[in-house]
Amino acid sequence: MTSTPKEIVRRGYDAVSYSYRGDEDRAAGERGAWIARIVLTVDSGAHVLDLGCGCGVPVSRDLVAAGRHVTGVDISDVQIARARRLVPGRTFIRADAGEVDFPSATFDAVICLYMLIHLPLDEQPPLLAKVASWLQPSGLFVVTAGHRAWTGTAANWLGSGAAMWWSHADAATYRRWLSAAGFTVEDEEYVPEGDGGHSLFWCRRGSRP
Ligand SMILES: C[S@@+](CC[C@H](N)C(=O)[O-])C[C@H]1O[C@@H](n2cnc3c(N)ncnc32)[C@H](O)[C@@H]1O
Repeated sequence: MTSTPKEIVRRGYDAVSYSYRGDEDRAAGERGAWIARIVLTVDSGAHVLDLGCGCGVPVSRDLVAAGRHVTGVDISDVQIARARRLVPGRTFIRADAGEVDFPSATFDAVICLYMLIHLPLDEQPPLLAKVASWLQPSGLFVVTAGHRAWTGTAANWLGSGAAMWWSHADAATYRRWLSAAGFTVEDEEYVPEGDGGHSLFWCRRGSRP
């Protein structure tokens, strides 16, 4: 029986969760800088959605420690069970980001690091439009996306015995999709990794004042 890309991704993160991220891991390198920038940008008491939250460490945990209200969503049972344990008292929802929904203007910020690229390409623009609707006007959206177009699978990812699947559009396509979804891109970083890399977009819902 063939698995769908989402089944591959969900099983892959169930298998790799603990080797990908330890319970006590600190926010190192660029992630530490991104979390610090989010805390500076989003007021204390703000409502933040961590979309593709993984095990909740470090992003949800550090934002909660800094006084932000965090809701997390992840497709992996293992990741969500860990997030509930590692960031107690917060809401963590086991769901496919492509299917989950929230009332409009629920969040002041949505953080989506290294998750969008696990969705089939045809599901990425509709998700960007839904994220825009979940945000307050001028709400912050931080998203890791592709830099060069690429779709592929890795067998035995990170030695887990499980496979993994990704699908990246190129950076120009993501700029276009973000704009069509109603975002203004305020900043864009290239984040190198191995032979390639990702684009990180810092966006606001709506147009520049
Ligand atoms: C590379 S990890 C990143 C975790 C966290 N955002 C971080 O940067 O530390 C990607 C996460 O996205 C989740 N994910 C992948 N596809 C998803 C989907 N369709 N819906 C919700 N979560 C998904 C995976 O289960 C995994 O926990």
